Amino acid sequence: MKTLIYAHRGASKQAPENTMPAFTFAYELGADGIETDIQLTKDHVPVLIHDENVRRTTNGTGFVQDYTFKQLQQLDAGSWFSENFINTQIISLEQLLSWVKDKELKLNLELKTKIIPYKHIEQIVYDLLIKYDKLNQTVISSFNPNTIQNMHVIDPNVTTALLTSQKKVDLFRFAKQVGASGLHIKSRLLNPPFLNKATENGLYVATYTINRKFEMLRCYKLGCHAIISDLPHLAIETRELYEQNILK
Ligand code: G3P
Ligand code: CA
Repeated sequence: MKTLIYAHRGASKQAPENTMPAFTFAYELGADGIETDIQLTKDHVPVLIHDENVRRTTNGTGFVQDYTFKQLQQLDAGSWFSENFINTQIISLEQLLSWVKDKELKLNLELKTKIIPYKHIEQIVYDLLIKYDKLNQTVISSFNPNTIQNMHVIDPNVTTALLTSQKKVDLFRFAKQVGASGLHIKSRLLNPPFLNKATENGLYVATYTINRKFEMLRCYKLGCHAIISDLPHLAIETRELYEQNILK
């Protein structure tokens, strides 16, 4: 089984996270997919930004939910990373989907509902995936189990994954209960018994954030379904060497 490589927030070590340059780099490098984070604006537009607050990754201040999409587009989401990316804009999910339209690139859309449980975000995102016919290339993930459950109720055929960074009692049963297809786990939770348990429960396992060669190799050897990495080029190169038996 070939472990899939998702570029975490795009190729986020090469370009500002969750922006078109980061996504374009990831695509050109040959990543299998892109992981990105979704928050909702004041006018209910799903936009790609990791934090609830725009402070860290733009020249603005305040919460995403207090901006309209048009207002958010005025912010510079590139200069904080490097002056080479000055005036890079925050983009909407729709803009991403329109760019991905003719590509085979997979998408991992993380709905950021743990801190702000944005109303109807699941339905809004689902409708866009239907509009762009991208449901089959997409996995919806969230740290918030309610979001997974809501998406499962909207359409049980959507691939969903519960995100977790901690060991939890009854995790596998709970994930099944909310309708998750898989688990996206922090790398330190990964071990063979965990993988076996997940398989027994019909859950796939992906790991984040895998940036070191030895961790990548470990995931490939253990047969993880996917890894999520800031360094897709290193992940691809390491996977090639592993497939050729050069790295063991
Ligand atoms: O989806 C995996 C990972 O992105 C979850 O954590 O904080 O990087 O969004 P975070
Ligand atoms: Ca994320």
